[in-house]
Amino acid sequence: MKATVSRKAHFNAAHRLYRKDWSMAQNDLVFGKCNNPNYHGHNYDLTVSVTGEINKETGFVVDVKTLSDLIKEHIENAFDHKNLNLDVSDFEDLNPTAENIAVVIWNKLRPYIDSENDLEVVLYETPRNFITYKGN
Ligand code: NI
Repeated sequence: MKATVSRKAHFNAAHRLYRKDWSMAQNDLVFGKCNNPNYHGHNYDLTVSVTGEINKETGFVVDVKTLSDLIKEHIENAFDHKNLNLDVSDFEDLNPTAENIAVVIWNKLRPYIDSENDLEVVLYETPRNFITYKGN
């Protein structure tokens, strides 16, 4: 019997979308207002889901407290109230688009999730714009 356990989380962060190797004009063309040199912020909402067999002894797929602590330690503490471009080394040479942030979050959490379980990350950059990443 399989089930999916999900935990919601939240962080506020600033970013700027641009490529260092492109001109300002090209960055403006592709990234528009998101290329503002003075950065801009988002209230990111995150849902992390783990799918797997329900353990017969515990009745859990994963202990949600453990999942919550993992997200707190590895994601919220690392990203909340940070400038993603300047403060988070993962984005030193990686454009902090919502897509790339979702991939970075998945990669940070994956080592701590039982290898038999599936991990899915859904990241809302705005209430209407969200990204799903499942590791493929
Ligand atoms: Ni943005």
